[in-house]
Amino acid sequence: MKNKIITLSVALAVLTFTGCKTKSNMVDAPVSSENKQAVPFEGKELSGEFDATIDKIVDQMTVEEKSGVLHGTSMFNTAGVERLGIPELKMADGPLGVREEISRDNWSSAGWDNDFATYYPAGGALAATWNTEMAYTFGNSLGQELRARDKDMLLSPAINIVRTPLGGRTYEYMSEDPFLNKKIAVPLIVGLQDNDVMACVKHFAANNQETNRDFVDVQIDERTLREIYLPAFEASIKEAKAYSVMGAYNKLRGEYLCENDYMLNKILRDEWGFKGIVVSDWNAVHSTVKTLKNGLDIEMGTNAPFDKFWLGQPLIDSAKAGKISMEEIDKHVKRILHVLFQVKAMGGKDRAKGSIATEAHYQDAYKIASESVVLLKNDNNALPLKLDGVKSVAVIGNNATKKNALGGFGAGVKTKREITPLEGLKNRLPSSIKINYAEGYLERYEEKNKGNLGNITSNGPVTIDQLDPAKLQEAIEAAKNSDVAIIFAGSNRDYETEASDRRNLKLPFGQEELIQKVLAVNPRTIVVMVAGAPFDIDDVSKKTSTLVWTWFNGSEGGNVLADVLLGKINPSGKLPWTMPKNLMDSPAHATNSFPGGKSVTYAEGILVGYRWFDTKNITPLYPFGYGLSYTTFAFENAKTDKKSYTADETITVSVDIKNTGKVDGKEVVQLYMSKSDSKITRAAQELKGFQKVLVTAGNSKTVTIQVPAKELAYYNVKAKKWTVEPGNYTLKLGNSSRDIQKEVIVTIK
Ligand code: BGC
Repeated sequence: MKNKIITLSVALAVLTFTGCKTKSNMVDAPVSSENKQAVPFEGKELSGEFDATIDKIVDQMTVEEKSGVLHGTSMFNTAGVERLGIPELKMADGPLGVREEISRDNWSSAGWDNDFATYYPAGGALAATWNTEMAYTFGNSLGQELRARDKDMLLSPAINIVRTPLGGRTYEYMSEDPFLNKKIAVPLIVGLQDNDVMACVKHFAANNQETNRDFVDVQIDERTLREIYLPAFEASIKEAKAYSVMGAYNKLRGEYLCENDYMLNKILRDEWGFKGIVVSDWNAVHSTVKTLKNGLDIEMGTNAPFDKFWLGQPLIDSAKAGKISMEEIDKHVKRILHVLFQVKAMGGKDRAKGSIATEAHYQDAYKIASESVVLLKNDNNALPLKLDGVKSVAVIGNNATKKNALGGFGAGVKTKREITPLEGLKNRLPSSIKINYAEGYLERYEEKNKGNLGNITSNGPVTIDQLDPAKLQEAIEAAKNSDVAIIFAGSNRDYETEASDRRNLKLPFGQEELIQKVLAVNPRTIVVMVAGAPFDIDDVSKKTSTLVWTWFNGSEGGNVLADVLLGKINPSGKLPWTMPKNLMDSPAHATNSFPGGKSVTYAEGILVGYRWFDTKNITPLYPFGYGLSYTTFAFENAKTDKKSYTADETITVSVDIKNTGKVDGKEVVQLYMSKSDSKITRAAQELKGFQKVLVTAGNSKTVTIQVPAKELAYYNVKAKKWTVEPGNYTLKLGNSSRDIQKEVIVTIK
C-alpha cells in the first residue's frame, strides 16, 4: 500500500498577479462560444523530425542510463543523462490544478513557498458545463501553470467512466457517458498541450472503482469495452493526440493493465496509432521484461530506493542476462526522447514559459465554475434571491466554510485563493444585510475507522451522523431569526476520496435531519449541495422548494455560487451523470456487480448510467443532462439537411432555441439517438451531440449540430469493427435526457 500524506487545507491571504497570456478570461465577457464549439479540436501529431538525432543519442547511452530514463528515480521524475543533454522528465498531478511540490523521495510536501497554484473546478464540474470551449480554457490555463512550475507532464485528465455513484474518484472523473466524456477530454488535452507540455490521460482503462483497485480483475465484454469505456481514450489519442497515457492499477481479463498486451500494444498502438508514451500509475508495475514487451514505457512509483523498481536494477540485470534485447529497450527510450523533443524539453527550442496563480487564471476558474452549477429545483422562482425587504440571511452548514482544494487522499492543490460559500456571500451581499452563520453539523468520523480514510481495502470512511445538540440549536435559531436561510450540505474531499469508495449514498454527518429541522422553521430556505458525486437527496428534494448543486468548484467557487444565488449568473450546468432515487436503481448495484472481490464482472454491459435507467424504465431522481435555468427555452423548427444519408456522411441537425423568459440564459441543446428497430440490443437512447448556446431574453437562435453517421455505429464484435446498421434512426432534441422536445427521423442507407 502506498503511503501518502494527507495534507491539510491552507487558508491564506488572497494574492493576485497579472500578465497571463490566456486568451479568454473576462468574467462578464459576452459569450458567443457556440461557433467555436462547433469546430473540432485537433491536437498536434508527434513530429518525426527528431528521429535521426534521437538514434544518435540512444547509440551513446549505457544500459544504466537507459534504465534511468525508463523509471522514476524520484517521486515524480525520471532520470536525465546530463552528458547527452537528456533532462529529467518532470511530472505533476493533477486534475484540480498543478499539485504542490512533493519531496523527491517520499510523499511529504517539499515545503516550497513558490508552488501555489490556481485551484480549478474538478472534473465533474467541468463536464457539467457541457461546454467544449470551457474545456479548452481549462486545459490551456492549467498548461500555462504547469510550465511556470517547469514541468513536462500533467498527470491528467482523469477520464474513467463513472460506473457507480459510490466511486471515490467520481468528483475527479467527468461523466457516465462516453460521448460527453470525450467531447470534454479532447479540447482539454489540446489546450494543455498547446503549452509545450504533455497530457497523461488516465487511468487506462476500466479503472472504475477504488475498492481493490490494486488487483481487481475487471471482466468486461468486448462491445461494452469499446462502446463505453474506451471512446474517450480513443478520441484523446486520435483527435487530441495526447502524448502520454497512464496505465491503471487493476487487471483487465486477467492481465495487469501496465503489462496488458491487448490494451497497450494491440489497441492503443496498433489500432489507434498511438506514438507517445505509457506511464504506469504509482506502483502499478509487476514485472520487468513483460511490462516493456507488453507496451509500458515508464515505471513510476513510490517507495525509494528507486533502483529496486522493476525497470531499475532488475532491468539492467535482465539486459545483461540476455532476457531482453537492447532493441526492445531502445524502442521505449526513443519514444520518451521523442516526447521530450516534442514539448521542447530537448532540442533547445524556445519553450513556453507559462504563468501561475495569476488573476487571469483565477478568472478562468471563475468562468468555468460559472457554467457548472446545476439548478435542480426552483419552485415559485424562489431563486434568484430577491433582496427587497431582506435584512438577514442565515448561512448554515460546515460546508459553508469548508475548503476543498486539498484534502483526502490523492492530488490536491495548494492555493492562495479558495473562496468558500460563506466568503462568497460576504463578498456579494450588500453590507446592510446581516449574515447569521451557524456551523450546523460537524464533520466527524468514527475514531476507530479514521485510519480507513484512503485505505483501499475499506469501503469508505465511517461518519458520525448524530448532530451535536448545541450546533443544531444554533442553526435553528439562526434560521428562525433570519429572513432567508441557506444550508450548505453535501460532502468534501475527505469524504469523497481516491483510494476508497463510499459505503452508501446517505448524506453524512446528520445533514438530513439538520435540513429537515431548518426547513421546518424557515420555509424560505435554500438547500445547496456541495459535492462531486451523487447523493441520496430524494427526501430533501421532496421537502425543499429550492435545490442547487455545486461542486469542488475551484478558487472562485464561493463567488460563483453567490452570483448564482443572487442572479448575476443564470445557471446553465447540466448533470453529467444520473442522480438515482436510490442506489439499488443504479446498474452496477441492480445487477449486484459492484465491487466484486478478486474479480468484478460488469454485468450491466453497455447499459451504464442513463442507458440503464432509460432502457429499464426506471425513473431517476434527476436525469442525466438535467439542469434548470432562471429563464425558459422553447425548441422550434427541428430539421435535418437531408432525409437519408450514407454511413460516411454527416447529418446536420438544426433547431431554433427561443428564450421565452425574461432574462438572458444559456441552454444546452442535447441530441440523443434511438434505434428502436435495431437487430441488436441497444440502449433506449444514446447522446450523440450537444451544444451550449447563449440566447438573450425574447430572442431566438439557430443551433446546428453535426452528427457524423459513424457516431451512430455499434461495435460489431464478430467483425471487430464499428458498424452502422442501415435503417431509421430517431434523433431526439431536448434539454435533458428526460425532456425531449423535438424528434427527427433519418435513414441511413
Ligand atoms: C493515482 C494517480 C496519480 C498518482 C500520483 C495514484 O495513486 O491513481 O491518479 O497520478 O497516484 O500521485
